[in-house]
Amino acid sequence: MRSDARFKMIVVIAALAGSLSPGYAASETASHALASPESFAAIDDTDKRSAAIFTELGRVLTHPRCTNCHPAGDRPHQGDNARLHQPPVTRGADGHGLEAMRCNSCHQQANFEPGRMPGHPDWHLAPREMAWEGKTIGEICEQIRDPARNGGRKVEDLIDHIGKDTLVGWAWKPGFGRPPAPGTQQQAGALVEAWVKTGAACPAP
Ligand code: HEC
Ligand code: HEC
Repeated sequence: MRSDARFKMIVVIAALAGSLSPGYAASETASHALASPESFAAIDDTDKRSAAIFTELGRVLTHPRCTNCHPAGDRPHQGDNARLHQPPVTRGADGHGLEAMRCNSCHQQANFEPGRMPGHPDWHLAPREMAWEGKTIGEICEQIRDPARNGGRKVEDLIDHIGKDTLVGWAWKPGFGRPPAPGTQQQAGALVEAWVKTGAACPAP
């Protein structure tokens, strides 16, 4: 995956170098962009449209910037290859780490570039029932709309949680050259809203 990141860098550099050719630059933007809710209008069947919108949102949910904090086990992951967190830390009782090694002893209020440290005032691990690691987009969908596994939220609450929550928002400004999640947080919020309005249907698991 390291080489994948390098490849993306090369593509970006190539796109910049070729910026006199608009087609080239546009295709690089497109690969990182999220499709708008309107672009699904041609799908007549509402359930299918809803599921297709969620599948697009799935590009965000399955991105390492999100899944590194939504792991299946007790340890967060790091990087684009989702390696286990070094130094070894575990979620502890409240997701903020063990007494002796709290997340915020290293992760400060904001990103700290010289140490390549991600930061946010509420930096901690998503609870076990919110694990996305290793799940298909259909499985994540079922889980994310289930109040027993999503922190007691109605699907409507997910619009703001994904579209506005600042901890979620870190994934779009992760610092230190880490690739951000696709699109923008606002665009991801718009996809959640469109998914909810079309009945919050899930893609096949
Ligand atoms: C002893 C210091 C330390 C502690 C304690 C610590 N971290 Fe980290 N963490 C780091 C460092 C350093 C990095 C950056 C590694 C890199 O990208 O090179 C990091 C990166 C991460 C990332 C990776 C982000 C990404 O997508 O690459 C996550 C997620 C993370 N930490 C979660 C946690 C959580 C949750 C806790 C508490 C349970 C925690 N960390 C406790 C030092 C620490
Ligand atoms: C620093 C760790 C961290 C990162 C990065 C992170 N999350 Fe979370 N996430 C959490 C924690 C902690 C919770 C539980 C908080 C709560 O329920 O209020 C959570 C809960 C959620 C929930 C609600 C519960 C559920 O699973 O249905 C959603 C939705 C969510 N995160 C989306 C995202 C998305 C999308 C991204 C990436 C764009 C992301 N998160 C990145 C830590 C993180």
